[in-house]
Amino acid sequence: MRSDIYLWNVKYENREPTASIDPDTLLLQHRGLLGSRGLCIDIAGGTGDNGLYLSQLGYRSIIVDGSEAGLRLCRYKARENGLTPLLLAADLDRFMLPRSTFDAVLVFRYLNRALIGNIYDCLKVNGLLFYKTFNDHHLVKHPHFPENYMLRDGELTEWFSDLHCVETNDGATDDVTYSWVGYK
Ligand SMILES: C[S@@+](CC[C@H](N)C(=O)[O-])C[C@H]1O[C@@H](n2cnc3c(N)ncnc32)[C@H](O)[C@@H]1O
Repeated sequence: MRSDIYLWNVKYENREPTASIDPDTLLLQHRGLLGSRGLCIDIAGGTGDNGLYLSQLGYRSIIVDGSEAGLRLCRYKARENGLTPLLLAADLDRFMLPRSTFDAVLVFRYLNRALIGNIYDCLKVNGLLFYKTFNDHHLVKHPHFPENYMLRDGELTEWFSDLHCVETNDGATDDVTYSWVGYK
């Protein structure tokens, strides 16, 4: 098993299962865009709060993550809330997303630059993309955080310039994340 996935498994194994679903505020802020149906994928979804939130709205959700322990916590939340997402344990370094398939794609606190083209392709026309992850301001509190996992200013905007941007926060403030919301 890859060492980063191993480390995530250890982290998740030390967590108590909880039924509460706590989506990222970016999704709550853009609730109006999401509607109440469609197919979504939560990429590197971990314990699945974001994908499960879309399930609660009425989406069919696929939650993919490399950590089986994370997905077990996700399964617990899903069961406790009467939700039935598809949970997929997979290494995203060896993963192909199907083209023109998803009405919503969620990527939170995960960066894999090799997957960006595939993320663009897997959106349907009008499909929504929510991307939010760490920028270099994260280094202030976590100086050893690997640079490879941090977005540079403007990077998301550049990658998704062919999509319609609804809102972006490119980390010019002291926020530790950089976010992008838009549709194809
Ligand atoms: C910071 S967590 C974010 C989880 C979730 N998106 C959230 O915001 O709560 C990063 C996630 O990426 C997953 N991950 C890291 N490398 C991965 C890989 N190569 N394949 C699949 N998942 C991976 C980890 O298991 C972990 O759940």
